[in-house]
Formats: sequence, C-alpha cells, structure tokens
Amino acid sequence: MEARTLELVFPSHANPMGNAFGGFVVGLMDKVGSYAAVRRAKKPVVTVAIGRVEFKVPIKVGDLLEVVARVERVGRTSLTVQVEVYKERFVGSKDRALATRGELVYVAVDEEGRPVPVDS
Ligand SMILES: CC(C)(COP(=O)(O)OP(=O)(O)OC[C@H]1O[C@@H](n2cnc3c(N)ncnc32)[C@H](O)[C@@H]1OP(=O)(O)O)[C@@H](O)C(=O)NCCC(=O)NCCS
Repeated sequence: MEARTLELVFPSHANPMGNAFGGFVVGLMDKVGSYAAVRRAKKPVVTVAIGRVEFKVPIKVGDLLEVVARVERVGRTSLTVQVEVYKERFVGSKDRALATRGELVYVAVDEEGRPVPVDS
C-alpha cells in the first residue's frame, strides 16, 4: 500500500540560509506515512516510533518535494512504513534527487486509542 504527496518548500519552512528545517521534513514524512498506514489498516493509526532518518542532501526554499510512503511490514497491530522524500527545483523540474528517507511505525487504534489488530 502506498501514499504520496507533493509539497513546495516556502521560506517559513527554512532557516535564514534557505535550508529546510529537519522537523518540517520529518513532519511531512509522518503525515504521508500515516496516510499509507491508514489506507492499509482501514482504521485510525497513531505514530509509535520514528526510526533512523537520513538527510542525504540539503532541501532548499523553492524545492518541490515528492513524499512517497510504502507499507513494508504489517504486524498484529503495527505497520512499518518506509518513507522517501525526493526533491527537484519547482521551476524546471531539474536535479531530482532522493533527499531524505526513514522508517516510521504506526499502530492501529480504536476510539479509545487502544491497539487493535490490522486485518490481514
Ligand atoms: C501507540 C500505543 C497505542 C501503543 O500502545 P501499547 O500499549 O504500548 O501497545 P503494545 O505494547 O500492545 O504494542 C502495540 C504494537 O506496537 C509495537 N510497538 C510498540 N512500541 C514500539 C516501538 N517503540 N517501536 C516499534 N514498534 C512498537 C508493538 O511491537 C506492537 O506491534 P504488533 O501488535 O504488530 O506486534 C501507545 O504507546 C500510545 O498511545 N502512544 C502515543 C501515540 C501518539 O500519541 N503518537 C503521536 C506522537 S505525538
């Protein structure tokens, strides 16, 4: 199961040097990762863990980000999602590169926030 979205980097997402904040990028990864997990679980999910996140190349103001999330593993109540962030210049679509990647774990929950099994 997969989810993807596009997001443009604005100055409010960046430091005065024009580099995107890591927390902004991780927030996007968590958001799109949860979409993939909800699609697969067909239930609400919460984030239980954010694994190792690698920032491989800088993301700058004016970059267009494509966030791609894929469910890699389904446990009893948990889902492990691999998230990749590709960047390219918004105008010209040049220099597409894998900028960031990481693994996030979600747990399917009921209305009280208790873990519930994911259907196989
Ligand atoms: C997520 C939460 C519901 C799990 O509750 P819990 O009582 O610890 O649940 P369990 O111990 O039964 O574990 C549930 C599943 O999560 C997995 N899990 C728990 N902690 C984990 C961790 N640190 N890393 C990876 N997986 C983890 C377990 O292995 C289990 O997976 P499985 O059912 O597929 O085998 C609870 O910890 C919680 O509400 N956390 C806050 C979530 C939140 O607010 N997230 C937003 C961040 S601000």
